[in-house]
Amino acid sequence: MKVTVVGAGAVGASCAEYIAIKNFASEVVLLDIKENFAEGKAMDLMQTASLNGFDTKIVGTTNDYSKTSGSDIAVITSGIPRKPGMTREELIGINAGIVKTVSENLIKHSPNVILIIVSNPMDTMTYLVHKTTDLPKHRIIGMGGALDSARFKYRLAEAMDCPSSDVDGMVVGGHSDKGMLPLTRLASRNSIRVSEFLSEERLSEVLEATKVGGATLTGMLGTSAWYAPGAAVSSLVQSIACDQKKMFPCSALLEGEYGLEDLCIGVPVVLGRNGIEKIVELDLNDSEMDKLKESADGVKATNRLLE
Ligand code: 2OP
Repeated sequence: MKVTVVGAGAVGASCAEYIAIKNFASEVVLLDIKENFAEGKAMDLMQTASLNGFDTKIVGTTNDYSKTSGSDIAVITSGIPRKPGMTREELIGINAGIVKTVSENLIKHSPNVILIIVSNPMDTMTYLVHKTTDLPKHRIIGMGGALDSARFKYRLAEAMDCPSSDVDGMVVGGHSDKGMLPLTRLASRNSIRVSEFLSEERLSEVLEATKVGGATLTGMLGTSAWYAPGAAVSSLVQSIACDQKKMFPCSALLEGEYGLEDLCIGVPVVLGRNGIEKIVELDLNDSEMDKLKESADGVKATNRLLE
């Protein structure tokens, strides 16, 4: 199983590291446009192999896509990250050109590749890849909801003073501060609804903290976060590589599901060896459906900036 990660910045390097540590891929190619940067990150990571006990070979390259040939999965993290105070949507001008070129280069060298898009504004970048390549829709996946759900579980665990492993919860909708929709009604701690443990007021604080999860970290770090994004991507890659058929909220092209079409937005999907094997339609209540529609309007407005 060969995986390429484009962009050797903090998010890309963290993806490569988590993929290697989970030890399911034979090779990870890390590609960056900055001379020798990916090679350096790859060498540094390879020097952790004996310490962390993995066998994955990590190779770095300066923009040589021939090294990515035959990749089964490729992750696109390239583009500029958020600076404090910026929204993900503000990155569109620069990142659209980069994501288009990167996806075309990847497909040229690996026609059977499954693409995972991380670059922001992620839902719009995922849609752009659908519009500008002829990859089938099940092979184009946007990573946002898996990260937002991890942040949601972190906030729920914090509020309930329990480990995150006790908590189940999902965030659907757009990967944006305003658009994401943490499903508090369905979240649970060991199958017990979180509303049994938390007041409505505390739950709404959790919801708000989740929605600005990325912005909070950008403010603290001066750039966007990388550990949780990297770990989230590695879980998607592993589910595909190992045909685990796990369910994650991912940005997928909708064609009528949830009454929505012609956009990519976060909904639960099953990931296996073919990429998106199924889009799961949740039984949302009216208020959740209204919020999802509102979120979709926001994503579509950002998509229009591509025109
Ligand atoms: C985040 O939310 C990188 O969009 C990503 O941290």
